[in-house]
Amino acid sequence: MKKVLLCPPTFYDIEYEINPWMHVQNKVNNRKALGEYEALKNAYKSLGLEVLEITPVKGLPDMVYAANLGFPFGNKFAVSNFRYEQRRKESNFAKEYFEDLGFKIVTFSENIYFEGQGDLTTAGGKYFMGWGKRSSREAKDILNQELGINCIDLELRDPYFYHLDMSLGPLDSKTALINPRSFTQEGLLKLKGEFDNIIETSEEDNKFMACNLVTVAKTVVIAKGISDKLKNDIKKYGFDVVEISMDEFRKGGGSIKCLTLEFY
Ligand code: ARG
Repeated sequence: MKKVLLCPPTFYDIEYEINPWMHVQNKVNNRKALGEYEALKNAYKSLGLEVLEITPVKGLPDMVYAANLGFPFGNKFAVSNFRYEQRRKESNFAKEYFEDLGFKIVTFSENIYFEGQGDLTTAGGKYFMGWGKRSSREAKDILNQELGINCIDLELRDPYFYHLDMSLGPLDSKTALINPRSFTQEGLLKLKGEFDNIIETSEEDNKFMACNLVTVAKTVVIAKGISDKLKNDIKKYGFDVVEISMDEFRKGGGSIKCLTLEFY
C-alpha cells in the first residue's frame, strides 16, 4: 500500500517570516488548522493510503510541512539540509525517524541546501528538481549519485513559489499542472518536452497554490478555493477532484503537498 507521512499541527504557528506568505501578526487558528489537517488525513485514508505521523516538536512550527523533511526512495532517505536556520533542527528529527524505520540516510554538505519533496518530485519514472530559492542546484549531483536517478533541474524564479511543489503538480506521467510564472523560458520548454498535457494555472488559482497537490491513482487532492475551470480541466483527463480547505496552512506558505511526504 502506498504510504504518506504527516506531522500534526500541534505546534504550528507563524513565529517568523521566511517566505512572502508568512506574516507574524497573521496568527494561526489552531482549532481550524487541526480541522484542516484531520480532513486531509481522512481523505488519504479513504483513498486507501497508509498514513504515518511523525511526532511534532515544540519550537519547530514549520515541521507540519512534512514534505520538506527529505526524500524517501527505496531504502534510502535523503534528509533535508534547510536553507533557513529556523528549520534546520527538523532534519535531526527526520533523520532519527527514518533511521528507526530502517532507511539508510543520505546527507548533503553544509553549503548545499536541499528541502526534500518541496523541491524534488517524480512522475512517470522521471525526477524533477527545483533550485534557486531553497535547494541548491548542486544538490542534483548528490541525488543523482546517491539515489541513482537522473534529475531534470528547473530554476525557480518567483519568491512566492519558492519550492518546486508550488510550481509543478504532476497528475501522472503525461499530465501536469504548471504555474508558468515560477519558471524561466528554458524551464518551461523543458517541461513542455516532458509532459504531453500541461494545464497552466491562472493567477486566481495560484492564490490557492493550485499546483501544490497530491495525486492518488486517479484522484487529485487539491486546495478548496480553486476555480471551476481548473477543476474541469483536471476532470477532462479522467481524474476525480477532492478539495480540502487549506486556509490556515497557507498562512505559513504551504498547502496540500507541503503537508505530505510521499513514499515512492
Ligand atoms: N513556512 C514553510 C517554509 O517557508 C513552508 C514550507 C512549504 N512547503 C512546501 N513543500 N512548499 O519553509
